[in-house]
Amino acid sequence: MTVMNRLVYLLSILSVLSAVAPYDLVHDYSGQTFFDGWDFYGSWDNLTLGDVWWLNQQDAFQQGLAQVNDAGRAVLKVDNTSDVAYGSKRNSVRITTQASYGVGSLWIIDLVHIPYGCSVWPAFWTMGPLWPNDGEIDIIEAVNVMPNNQMALHTTPGCSQPEPNTGNVQTGAPNLADLDCSQSPGCVVTETKPNSYLTGFAEAGGGVWATQFDVSGVFIWFWSRADVPASIAFATNTSSITDLSSWGPPSASYPATSCNITEFFTAQQLVLDITLCGNWAGIAPVYDPTCASQGSTGICYNDNVVGPGSPKYDEAYFEINYVRAYSTGGAVSSIPTPTPGSGYNVPGATTTSSAPTTSASYTPPNSGSGRNAAGRLWWMIPLVGLGAGVALVL
Ligand SMILES: *[C@@H]1O[C@H](CO)[C@@H](O)[C@H](O)[C@H]1NC(C)=O
Ligand SMILES: *[C@@H]1O[C@H](CO)[C@@H](O)[C@H](O)[C@H]1NC(C)=O
Ligand SMILES: *[C@@H]1O[C@H](CO)[C@@H](O)[C@H](O)[C@H]1NC(C)=O
Ligand SMILES: *[C@@H]1O[C@H](CO)[C@@H](O)[C@H](O)[C@H]1NC(C)=O
Repeated sequence: MTVMNRLVYLLSILSVLSAVAPYDLVHDYSGQTFFDGWDFYGSWDNLTLGDVWWLNQQDAFQQGLAQVNDAGRAVLKVDNTSDVAYGSKRNSVRITTQASYGVGSLWIIDLVHIPYGCSVWPAFWTMGPLWPNDGEIDIIEAVNVMPNNQMALHTTPGCSQPEPNTGNVQTGAPNLADLDCSQSPGCVVTETKPNSYLTGFAEAGGGVWATQFDVSGVFIWFWSRADVPASIAFATNTSSITDLSSWGPPSASYPATSCNITEFFTAQQLVLDITLCGNWAGIAPVYDPTCASQGSTGICYNDNVVGPGSPKYDEAYFEINYVRAYSTGGAVSSIPTPTPGSGYNVPGATTTSSAPTTSASYTPPNSGSGRNAAGRLWWMIPLVGLGAGVALVL
C-alpha cells in the first residue's frame, strides 16, 4: 500500500464511522410533563381479568394514583387508601403512549421502585394495534413475590426464541418449556442478575432497562443502579445514544434468525400498568405457593383486594425517573406533535431495512442490520486502531 492508499483507506473507515447512525431521542417522558403523550385506559381490567379499575386520566390525577412526586418522578400506583367492599374492584392505572415506535427504536426506562406484593402484577411492555398479530414485548413483568423479572415476546406462530446451546448469547435463563413465542406464556427469559424485582430492586437504588427493537432482533438489557453503563447514566434528556458497545450481552436476546422481527412486529406503543390477581398473579398454581397464607381464604381477591388497602398495597407503585424513546429514523424535530387521543407513528427508517443476517444468534447490539449502525462502532475500533498504527509507522 502506498501512503496515499493508506490514507484513502483510513479516510474511508473514518467516513463509515462518521456515517454511523446514532439513536436520536424521539421522546423524553419525565418530570412534570411525564404524563403528556399517554392515554389512560378508563375501564376495568377486561384484558387480563384483574380485580382493578384502571382510572381515566382525571380520576387518576385526582386520586393521586398518577402523579409527579416532590422528587420530580412519575408515580403510578394502586389505591392503598380505600376500604374495598366485597364484589368491588380496587383502583389502579394503565397508560399507553399515543406514539407508536417502529423497528429501529430503542426504549430506556429508569425507575427507583417497581410494584410488588401478593396479588400485584405490574408490567412495562409494548404492543401493536392488533394482538397478537402485531406482536408484544414484555420488558418488566412479574407477579406476587417472584424474586426476578421475566421478559417475553408474544406473537403469532412462527416466532421462537433459539433452542438452547445454539450460541444465543444472553445472561438470562430461557424457560425451556416456553421457547415458542405464540404459546400463551410467550417465549420467556428469566432475569438472573440480582435485584431485578421485589424489595431488592428499590433497595439497590432501582435500575434501568433498555430494549432494542431492531430488524436483527429484540434485545433487552437490565442493570441494577450500580451497574448502569455510563452511556446511559450520563445521558441527558436530549442526548443521543451512540455507544452500545459497553452494554455487554443483553439479559434477553431474541435474534431475527428464529423470529423475523419485521414479519411478527409492527410499530409498538409503550404500556405501563398495574393489575391485581387476574389470569396470571391470581391463578392457584401461581398464587398459592407463595401467597396462599396471606389471608384466611387463600384466594387472591378475597385476601388482598377486599378490605383496607394499607399496608397491603403500600409497595404497589412505580416510581419512574424517565422513559425515553430513541430512533435511528430521524431527529426529534421530524416527529409530529401528538394531539391528545390520536396516535401517530414515528417515521421508521424503512429505507434501511434489510433482511436479518444469518450470523450467530446474538451478534453485538445492532450488528448485521442495515438499520442500526451504532453497534458497528465496536467492530470498527480495532480496525481504526490498526489503520492508525500503520499510518504512524509510515
Ligand atoms: C375493554 O373495555 C374497553 C372500554 O370499555 C373496550 O373498548 C374494549 O373493547 C374492551 N376489551 C375487551 C377485550 O373486552
Ligand atoms: C430537560 O431537563 C432539564 C433539566 O431538568 C429541563 O429544564 C428541560 O425542560 C428538559 N427538557 C426536555 C426537552 O424535557
Ligand atoms: C421477514 O419478513 C419480511 C416481512 O414479512 C419479509 O419481507 C422478509 O423476506 C422476511 N425475511 C426472511 C429472512 O424470511
Ligand atoms: C400508601 O402507600 C404509600 C407509599 O406508596 C405510603 O406513603 C402511604 O402512607 C400509604 N397510605 C396509607 C393510608 O397508609
